[in-house]
Amino acid sequence: MAEVIWGLATSHVPSIGAAMDRGKTEDASWKDLFDGYAPARAWLAEHRPDVAIVIYNDHANGIDLDVVPTFAIGTSDHYDVADEGFGKRPVPDVVGHPELSLHLLESLVDEGFDLTVFQELDVDHGLTVPLSVWTPDPGEAWPCPVVPILVNVIQYPQPTAARCYALGQALGRAIASFPQDLKVGVLGTGGMSHQLAGARAGFINPEFDAMFMEAVETDPERLTALSRQDYVREAGSEGIEMIMWLVMRGAMRAEVTKVHSHYFVPASNTAAAVALFDNRAPATA
Ligand code: DHB
Ligand code: FE
Repeated sequence: MAEVIWGLATSHVPSIGAAMDRGKTEDASWKDLFDGYAPARAWLAEHRPDVAIVIYNDHANGIDLDVVPTFAIGTSDHYDVADEGFGKRPVPDVVGHPELSLHLLESLVDEGFDLTVFQELDVDHGLTVPLSVWTPDPGEAWPCPVVPILVNVIQYPQPTAARCYALGQALGRAIASFPQDLKVGVLGTGGMSHQLAGARAGFINPEFDAMFMEAVETDPERLTALSRQDYVREAGSEGIEMIMWLVMRGAMRAEVTKVHSHYFVPASNTAAAVALFDNRAPATA
């Protein structure tokens, strides 16, 4: 039986990846952000999973805006890093886990989540920056194979927070029913508050972010009661990315143990956060 051993929530701001790729993490403007990752990275290095499930969104880099699936899954054994206009990031391509992907797909469809299937997919900063937050120096390969699960957060109507949490709960059951003994890490990506364009460009809401950070650990149902309009109003038009953290949270136990969290404003235009949760059974944790 496969088991979720941890959940990692992190922002995916592209310039976080660029700062790493260009060796700027010790610069004054970046140091506090990267210092805030250190305790999570150290714990994760001691708790390497066999496979990671990354809940993320594409930003019209890997997938054309002509086709915007609400929920989707990659089933490939390999995902190229997308060229977002400045060349590919100098990070490894992503190795997939088709067997687990197909098992999750079947279980989720059986539970009424009719996911779109990608047999080919280039992965953008929404996926690669969270992998870099986890593993700053991957060398030739990321620490383990990845199953990408995509959520539409870029085009109205985004799925509700409640639906994302329910997807996560179904994902947790799907993972538990996989016959192999795999240790699984789940990444919930995006957020926190930010708005990139329009009259409120630059909008950040630390009070809402603090409430969300606390509730995602202790009272996720509170967050599922919020509408997509609530998310856009309180967190900005791109802050709604935070609903992807709820997919991760839904796949975890009711009670999780926070290992570390850190909040930094601003990384580019975004309130950047990391939050790491231990999901192992209390006796083994
Ligand atoms: C920024 C944040 C994002 O979430 C994103 O997808 C692109 C850019 C930013 O703050 O620059
Ligand atoms: Fe984004």
